[in-house]
Amino acid sequence: MRSLFSTANSSGIKEPMLKRLALFGSELVANPRAIGAACPSSPLLARRMARSVKATGGSYVLELGPGTGAITDAILRGGVPENRLVVIEKSPVLARVLRRRYPRAHVMEGDAACIQEIVHARLGLNAGQFSHIVSSLPLRSIPKPVAELIARGIQDFLSQGASLVQFTYDLRNGSVGWFGRLQHVRSSVVWLNVPPARVDEYFATEAHSVAVPPVLCEGHAGPGVTSLRS
Ligand SMILES: C[S@@+](CC[C@H](N)C(=O)[O-])C[C@H]1O[C@@H](n2cnc3c(N)ncnc32)[C@H](O)[C@@H]1O
Repeated sequence: MRSLFSTANSSGIKEPMLKRLALFGSELVANPRAIGAACPSSPLLARRMARSVKATGGSYVLELGPGTGAITDAILRGGVPENRLVVIEKSPVLARVLRRRYPRAHVMEGDAACIQEIVHARLGLNAGQFSHIVSSLPLRSIPKPVAELIARGIQDFLSQGASLVQFTYDLRNGSVGWFGRLQHVRSSVVWLNVPPARVDEYFATEAHSVAVPPVLCEGHAGPGVTSLRS
């Protein structure tokens, strides 16, 4: 049974919730704009984000900005096999923790602005193999040019019929303004989260294969590490 004080990963290994909160807090202090949230996502928000996410027919799921893994847990509990999950997390500390926690998932330390680069060059996968993108990226708090690049990259990456789910604390406008090329399917507010969050779901009605120019992204020492050139 799940408890308020512990959480179990897909292998059933329990981890104290307080440890997660402490990890989140220290990352928040170190990099407030990149974390962009006061607390980890609540179980209710995590379930809402994951509710439509399936890995049917051997497809992959891409999670952007998984943080401490609250939504990752919900995606896996929803039945997505761990080895069908690719996550891109910018914080080296969080990426290391996620790699330990989800040993069979493809945990990539890197910048979500470099999706194409990370997925193609580093994992040898292509956009057509992904059915869903699940994003916790704080688009409103990261620098606007980077957020715009990420939003463009997400829309370029999604193949026809693939979906995006994104949450935001902007309850009124949601994330709709960022993803004008996608069809907005539904939105809902999760009040049991600190602060309350709005979940927007989209899907791609046509394929956009305009890749983010690779010159913007460069690999660094160590496998799976890709970041945006500043
Ligand atoms: C709102 S927090 C995620 C909260 C998460 N749902 C949880 O419960 O822990 C946003 C996450 O996005 C990551 N992030 C921010 N900018 C990023 C970028 N450009 N590429 C990849 N990850 C990024 C942050 O490091 C942080 O882990």
